[in-house]
Amino acid sequence: MTFHVITLFPELVEQCCNSSIIGRAFGNGVINLELINLRDFAINSYGSVDDYTYGGGAGMLIACEPVYNAYQKIMEKLPGGSSVRTIYTTPQARVFTQTDAKELSRENDDIIFICGHYEGIDERVLQKIVTDYYSIGDYVLTGGELPVAVIIDAVARLIPGVLNNDESAETESFNDGLLEYPQYTRPKVWQEMEVPPVLLSGDHKKVGEWRHFMAKERTKERRPELYTKYLEERGIW
Ligand code: ADE
Repeated sequence: MTFHVITLFPELVEQCCNSSIIGRAFGNGVINLELINLRDFAINSYGSVDDYTYGGGAGMLIACEPVYNAYQKIMEKLPGGSSVRTIYTTPQARVFTQTDAKELSRENDDIIFICGHYEGIDERVLQKIVTDYYSIGDYVLTGGELPVAVIIDAVARLIPGVLNNDESAETESFNDGLLEYPQYTRPKVWQEMEVPPVLLSGDHKKVGEWRHFMAKERTKERRPELYTKYLEERGIW
């Protein structure tokens, strides 16, 4: 799968995606990253991509034409008839979740991401090409590059071949709607704090039960709304 990213700051997205585990997968060709510099689609010889907003108000807005031309350039290279998910990240959307990450990781076709900047992007081009809007949280960032890198990371690690066995995504937080249980490594005692004895018992059944119990307790305490959902989905409510 190729992730195409339309951005004014390709180096920022590249830096985020090229390190660590996800960077290795991009390097191996398991997944691909194609960065499209919006500046290459400027509307004039000064390299402008933005303009004043109609109706007044502070700030500049990215115009339709550069975004649409960058999008067309990507589409021209894809096989005809591809249904390409086109994602715009904005705080004015619902928050991206692990369920969305799973769904996108099962996409057979490429995914296009558009990073906003300044006051955003002219609504008309968004209406024309965007299929999905996501926020990464209820706060405002200066641009869409970090949200896009966050989404790519969350999606990429679920694509077969990206993580190896040791890094498996199977038993971690959110997999069954619960946060992950606490984990420990050596030494057995650190600053007078002991590793829970059950983890040293060698009894896999007991360890499993303890982990499940702790996952529920942690979720109840830290994310009560997730815990309610977990109970409801199992008809325990
Ligand atoms: N762009 C600016 N802030 C954002 C956010 N919180 N989520 C997604 N895109 C954004």
